[in-house]
Amino acid sequence: MKESTTGFDPHWLSLREAVDHAVRPSQLVPRFAAGTEAVRVVDLACGTGSNLRYLSPLLPARQRWLLLDYDAALLAEAGQRCSAWLAKHGRTDAVTLDTRRGDLSAGIPDAVIDPSEGGTHGQRPEPTMVTASALADLVSREWLERFADQLTTTDHVQAVLLATVYNGAVSFDPTDQDDQAVIDAFHRNMHRDKGFGPALGAEAARAVSTTFAQNWAVMEADSTWNLDSACRLRMGAAVFDRLLEFQLGFFVDAATAEGFDASAWGARRDLQRSRDQLTIRVGHTDVLAARPTNANPAGARRADTPSRIPTA
Ligand SMILES: C[S@@+](CC[C@H](N)C(=O)[O-])C[C@H]1O[C@@H](n2cnc3c(N)ncnc32)[C@H](O)[C@@H]1O
Repeated sequence: MKESTTGFDPHWLSLREAVDHAVRPSQLVPRFAAGTEAVRVVDLACGTGSNLRYLSPLLPARQRWLLLDYDAALLAEAGQRCSAWLAKHGRTDAVTLDTRRGDLSAGIPDAVIDPSEGGTHGQRPEPTMVTASALADLVSREWLERFADQLTTTDHVQAVLLATVYNGAVSFDPTDQDDQAVIDAFHRNMHRDKGFGPALGAEAARAVSTTFAQNWAVMEADSTWNLDSACRLRMGAAVFDRLLEFQLGFFVDAATAEGFDASAWGARRDLQRSRDQLTIRVGHTDVLAARPTNANPAGARRADTPSRIPTA
């Protein structure tokens, strides 16, 4: 495939997909779909389509998906991979798939959440879920507030699912004298503008919950990555090691960009990684915002105990 223009390496997105799918809390999803026969799903910043491959089996059979990304190369990959995935699972009759190149930096383009966009399965527009995975830490507080306002006033949007939202809880086992300096630099670096204003970074999960809780019934569930020996067994050593290499590289590059020389830390961590002696935990939260009801008023609450990557 052609090189990505937004800077997100498709190889990295494939590596993280395996971990994301293992830890995402599936119990949040039926709260949107219960009792419905057909749904529409708008996946913002879809990358190569990981969110469809995770959510589609958890939703009612008839689905209409719109995948949106600014990056034409990733979007083309998403279209191909999701079409192949739907064919492989015998889902092409029940699930329709559109892709759209679009820039989210000024908010969601109105046409994207128009209920009649692309035709409907029945006479009336299906209830819509707007979703995005691994996006919220890239956006600013102001962008998030506008996004929530826009969705609050769009009646047919019944749920918003922001998945694998970084929550700042990162840790290493064993610990190292430079961990805190690296983590602090990583978090400072995350605030750099990615096209949406000063990025939320480690504040993303809390900001998403509190912003939506003003007008929506919000449920949070843990989707933390536990990159440990059990995860290595499950994913296979080669894929797991590549994932850890990428993740360590992100820490070292971010620290260097913030003026902290993390090369010695990176070398120590890499040696531990090669000996299967390193565990990294990267804290994520999935946040589902649903229209409030008497039984489920606006506000935020936890939905579960923390999920873990199952052992092989
Ligand atoms: C961390 S990746 C997540 C991809 C995918 N959702 C996943 O979970 O694998 C962030 C995505 O945001 C997209 N993106 C970045 N800036 C964007 C913008 N201004 N408009 C639309 N998409 C954008 C990137 O192209 C990339 O696909």
